[in-house]
Amino acid sequence: MPILKLDSLEPDTEAIRLAASVLVKGGVVAFPTETVYGLGALALCESCVRKIFELKGRPADNPLIVHIAEIGQVDELATHVPAAARKVMERLWPGPLSIVLDVAQSVPKVVTAGLESVALRMPAHPVALELIKAVGPIAAPSANKSGRPSPTTAEHVFEDFGEELLILDAGPTAVGLESTVVDVRTVPWRIYRPGAVTRELLEEVGQVPVTLAAGVIEGAAPSPGMKYKHYSPDVELHLFCDAEVVPKDQPVTVIALEHLKKYFSSHAYFISLGDSTLSAAARIYMALRQAERFGLPTYVQLMEEEGIGVAYNERVRRAAAKR
Ligand code: TXA
Ligand code: MG
Repeated sequence: MPILKLDSLEPDTEAIRLAASVLVKGGVVAFPTETVYGLGALALCESCVRKIFELKGRPADNPLIVHIAEIGQVDELATHVPAAARKVMERLWPGPLSIVLDVAQSVPKVVTAGLESVALRMPAHPVALELIKAVGPIAAPSANKSGRPSPTTAEHVFEDFGEELLILDAGPTAVGLESTVVDVRTVPWRIYRPGAVTRELLEEVGQVPVTLAAGVIEGAAPSPGMKYKHYSPDVELHLFCDAEVVPKDQPVTVIALEHLKKYFSSHAYFISLGDSTLSAAARIYMALRQAERFGLPTYVQLMEEEGIGVAYNERVRRAAAKR
């Protein structure tokens, strides 16, 4: 299967039709979203969704997010939707936000890993939305092999899966980190995975208290993804706030904001994250894959713990956590 390049603003209907036909026949395709590329299959087809788990090498107890294109689809997939959650959907969808709700009968157990809940998200990407409109709800994890950094370009998807997979290529993703996952079944709402939609924004829009329940957790985790090692390149990772801690007497790779380049140019491979926390979020997974190719001990800059910096820091901490 080829990589099909298309213009993200005016999705090429030919490419969408081809991808839709692969999905309808029970297959899997990779498609762009505003966060990262997804590996999609028909959400309501059990045998289709199983193929995602096989391809990714994903543990069967880690549930998938179901992607929708219209708010009307929520009530086919979930029950007991709180009024405050509806308000959040109206305001923040389409967008980088997955909402955990009581699951409806229609959703196969393989999607939710047998949980009583399902995560729903309406992605803000014209290609993703067109594809969902063509075939109905799509279950999709990030389109990487289990444990690898998430893909922010079609080439990353190709690195992990090769020729076997049809990949819709709409260029690099805008956000670069996976969606915020928030459980709205009880108050306070709990964020299992921070993302571009912040705790503060959820509180403001939902008028409900929200807590951050993310982090690497041992044993039973409220969100199964929390207990797995994630986002990890095959290279030794260290984190830093202060440039002084980076060793000067050995070859290293440094991943940091552009303004730090001058401190490292003489003794390190420098991979720039651009000039803001936003650009750092968009570039970090690509930077980790590049550092992997250099193969040297890699020093990654932490960001301010605010806005999308919270999500960025959580991902790089997990990437650096020991196996
Ligand atoms: O931005 C994104 O969310 C991307 C794009 C493709 O939409 N998708 C993505 O999917 O990151 P994935 O499978 O890589 O991560 C989904 C996370 C996992 O940590 C999983 O455990 C959690 O969401 N999750 C899914 N369903 C859940 C549920 N019912 N309850 C709690 N956590 C859930
Ligand atoms: Mg993932």
